[in-house]
Amino acid sequence: MNAPNIAIVGATGAVGIEILRVLERRNFPVASLKLLASARSAGKTLAFKGKPHTVEEVKPTSFKGVDIVFFSAGATRSREFAPHAKAAGAIVIDNSSAFRMDGDVPLVVPEINAAAIRQHHGIIANPNCVAIVAAMALWPIHRRNPIRRLIMSTYQSASGAGAAAMAELTQATAAALAGRDFAPAVLPHPYAFNLFSHNTPIDPATGANGEETKVINETRKIMDAPTLRVSVTCVRVPVLRAHSMALTVECAEPITPETARAWLAEAPGVRVVDDTLRNHFPMPVEASGGDDVLVGRIRADASDPSGRSVALFVAGDQLLKGAALNAVQIAERVLQ
Ligand SMILES: NC(=O)c1ccc[n+]([C@@H]2O[C@H](COP(=O)([O-])OP(=O)(O)OC[C@H]3O[C@@H](n4cnc5c(N)ncnc54)[C@H](OP(=O)(O)O)[C@@H]3O)[C@@H](O)[C@H]2O)c1
Repeated sequence: MNAPNIAIVGATGAVGIEILRVLERRNFPVASLKLLASARSAGKTLAFKGKPHTVEEVKPTSFKGVDIVFFSAGATRSREFAPHAKAAGAIVIDNSSAFRMDGDVPLVVPEINAAAIRQHHGIIANPNCVAIVAAMALWPIHRRNPIRRLIMSTYQSASGAGAAAMAELTQATAAALAGRDFAPAVLPHPYAFNLFSHNTPIDPATGANGEETKVINETRKIMDAPTLRVSVTCVRVPVLRAHSMALTVECAEPITPETARAWLAEAPGVRVVDDTLRNHFPMPVEASGGDDVLVGRIRADASDPSGRSVALFVAGDQLLKGAALNAVQIAERVLQ
């Protein structure tokens, strides 16, 4: 497959638009491009390399002659249409949660487990956006000094909930500044000048919400660390784009902040932002629009006198490395 025929399901969404942009700027070889979404978007046009492409409603028959399909239209749509894409002979790269934990579906972050791509049976899953950004910061440490325990608190942006949530944050903030009432329609709570526990249902058996459960399971699967002990608190914050997170890791052997910083500094896709003199550390505004995951505040965890724990602060554009960029990187590996 030199230049594949490509389709994007969910092309009009926050992730879909970024997939188009990433394919363009990485000069991904595209023989033909099919843009698919719901009936609401049929007839709209989106530009790719300066040429307009008309969006079509996705149908079971949409995938004839397509080689690679990026799905980013939610898990329900992936479950409904990915089998049709697969049956038509296409390779599916799925951004949704539909197949991530299936035993025969590789869950891939190319910098970590690219070799897993070869084991696909027609579907390759792109991990949850928090799991990808976190794993990028964890892996350079874990591969040399295995992490035994991870405590994570997230600061997740509106863009993680899609284009409509980004619009709601903007509108709610404008209304609050103007002293107008605003009734949230996309997210369950007032978003301007507020934050709230992630808007996924709580599992009464574990006390974890849906996002936290995904992060725990997927981080273990990506790093092939099934016994990793993980505690996660996922919180939605009024940031437009890019997720941030505080990570505390306990390793098998003692580790110094200097060692962790050196390992992170040489990791592909990671940029150390750790200027203690100027108090300049990873921020979502600086991660937004960039490919790298920013890692800083690298310090010893004073609560662990054994010297085996370090704390980090991380920010990454979850529409890029957490979704579109990672998916296109997988497609690039498929072509190799
Ligand atoms: N946002 C993130 O940071 C992120 C990160 C990783 C993974 N993901 C996953 O990526 C997927 C898309 O997320 P998003 O943030 O891009 O959401 P979004 O902005 O809400 O976009 C949703 C896309 O799905 C399409 N769609 C919705 N209902 C459909 C239907 N019935 N049939 C066909 N297409 C339909 C929409 O088309 P219309 O415009 O026609 O409605 C739109 O193109 C989700 O599975 C999400 O979990 C998101």
